[in-house]
Amino acid sequence: MHLLMCPPTYCDVSYEINPWMHLSIRPDRSLAQKQWDDLYRIITQTIGARVSLVEPHPDVPDMVFTANAGLVEGSLYIPSTFKYEERRLEASYFREWFDSHGYLARELAVGPFEGEGDALRLGDILLAGFGPRTVRASHAGLSAAVNRRVVSLGLVDGRYYHLDVCLAVLNPNELIYFPEAFDDASMAVLHDLPVETIAISQSDADHFGANAVVLGKDVIINLGATDLAASLSERGYRVHRTDLSEFVKAGGSAKCLTLTLQPA
Ligand code: ARG
Repeated sequence: MHLLMCPPTYCDVSYEINPWMHLSIRPDRSLAQKQWDDLYRIITQTIGARVSLVEPHPDVPDMVFTANAGLVEGSLYIPSTFKYEERRLEASYFREWFDSHGYLARELAVGPFEGEGDALRLGDILLAGFGPRTVRASHAGLSAAVNRRVVSLGLVDGRYYHLDVCLAVLNPNELIYFPEAFDDASMAVLHDLPVETIAISQSDADHFGANAVVLGKDVIINLGATDLAASLSERGYRVHRTDLSEFVKAGGSAKCLTLTLQPA
């Protein structure tokens, strides 16, 4: 397992592009650095996964959320096309990193597409969110590019604006999700999948419980998702709870801070 992260040197809330962001509630940068360091330490030392770093830039405060850099499949890099102007500058920084690390970039003809924030692997298939950010019309090109069947899931609540804030794949047979975030058709699609779908509570969802980093049996989640932490432990997962309060102010948590370069 190999992830990409970006140090939170310049993380901030300097615009509002999701309902969690308020210009009046800015992150404390030194606390953010400490929280990010803790997450990095859990991933690299406690769990022993590999992490590569991309250099942060002062003009892109959300670059810390590397899940939105794109989607990586082997040596193929599908760059994101961001919905909001405020994040579009990140694209060239991420592109530079992938170009200089031996990846072949393949751009989608249709966007916006916000990367792993809206595209999660479930065994051989790809669950892809659409609505608040990514457009459904990007999914066909995505499917062709990564050569996977894409299952499209419509998101209906602006608070859960990326798939990775309302769904996490635990393993090819098990996923957690927050039902209220999905439209009716997508709920039916989810229940038709040959996997166990585990609903999480509103409180766990609002504490970014679904925004979990899953590395085999190890699951890292934000501190407040207490019921979920207990039920994951009962299911035999090693749960690592860590405070990510400063990133929640920008509408993100554990999973958003990582991009999968090589799955577990
Ligand atoms: N402030 C960022 C945005 O609104 C947060 C991104 C969180 N990333 C994620 N994968 N959910 O775009």
